[in-house]
Amino acid sequence: MLLLVFFLAAAAALLVKFATADGDFTLLSKGPAKREEVEGKVVWITGASRGIGEILAKQFANLGAKVILSARNKMELERVKSEITSKHPASRVEVLPLDLASGEDSLREVVKEAESLFSGAGVDFMIHNAAFERPKRNALEETEKGLQDTFHINVLGTITLTHLLAPSMLERGRGHFVVMSSAAGKCPSPGQAIYSSSKHALNGYFHSLRAEKRVSVERCAELTIVAATHGLKEAWISDQPILLVMYLAQYMPTIAYWFLDRVGANRLDAAASKGNTYSWKLFFGQKKLA
Ligand SMILES: NC(=O)c1ccc[n+]([C@@H]2O[C@H](COP(=O)([O-])OP(=O)(O)OC[C@H]3O[C@@H](n4cnc5c(N)ncnc54)[C@H](OP(=O)(O)O)[C@@H]3O)[C@@H](O)[C@H]2O)c1
Repeated sequence: MLLLVFFLAAAAALLVKFATADGDFTLLSKGPAKREEVEGKVVWITGASRGIGEILAKQFANLGAKVILSARNKMELERVKSEITSKHPASRVEVLPLDLASGEDSLREVVKEAESLFSGAGVDFMIHNAAFERPKRNALEETEKGLQDTFHINVLGTITLTHLLAPSMLERGRGHFVVMSSAAGKCPSPGQAIYSSSKHALNGYFHSLRAEKRVSVERCAELTIVAATHGLKEAWISDQPILLVMYLAQYMPTIAYWFLDRVGANRLDAAASKGNTYSWKLFFGQKKLA
């Protein structure tokens, strides 16, 4: 009897832990970020002008990393730089504007410049965080331009940058690529077919880390750095119910796809009415995908 009570209590505790998780269990079992892994190292972040990239830059700088900020909007990058240096005057931060859709020749020049910064120290961590916008709409409503832009930025630009940078890392015998993927890169994501396919493509290229910003950007950046500094090959960061769907898609795909089929049309309706596209309620709606 005592054993049964103990078993039920342990199961309940595990369920509570799962229900309140904001990352996969392996990631959450790690301690805080390892400062010694990034202190003094050069961390290059794309998409650093706002959102998760901006917060990542601030948290990496806080851990003593030398940070290179990239995106298209130079003014916003300068703003992020000045916010970092006004809080931590000793921080070493450089702004390096970059357009991931600008093609190989232009990206080659940017890589050369990144490698030359901080007295030619070379890039230790390349954080592939930039992404094209991701509106939620029916797959058949997606435009050719949206498809081209998404793949040029999320996939082709990111992979080209990797090709151009990896040889120097190999020569130095050190370097990490950290890729901000998405739950949409692990499971079907109704209403985001193009974005989801671009992230699946990225996951196919990088055995990677994914992130989900409904977790606060601060927490997302914190867990990303934990994953990077503990050398995790892949980590999941997300609130429920997305985390549950990801576990199902990984270990019980039939149930996951049944679940997502029920959710799909309701999610598009929620997006159209600017409702919550991540709510449990989507599952209980009446509409189903044909
Ligand atoms: N937010 C979420 O809920 C969520 C969920 C799952 C995964 N993620 C992933 O996490 C990453 C960051 O998301 P976020 O929401 O913070 O993104 P965001 O706010 O939309 O910011 C996108 C960043 O990418 C940059 N960017 C866009 N086009 C670019 C281009 N052609 N060349 C270079 N940089 C470009 C933007 O800067 P400029 O406009 O100045 O170029 C901006 O800094 C993305 O990879 C996203 O897919 C986010």
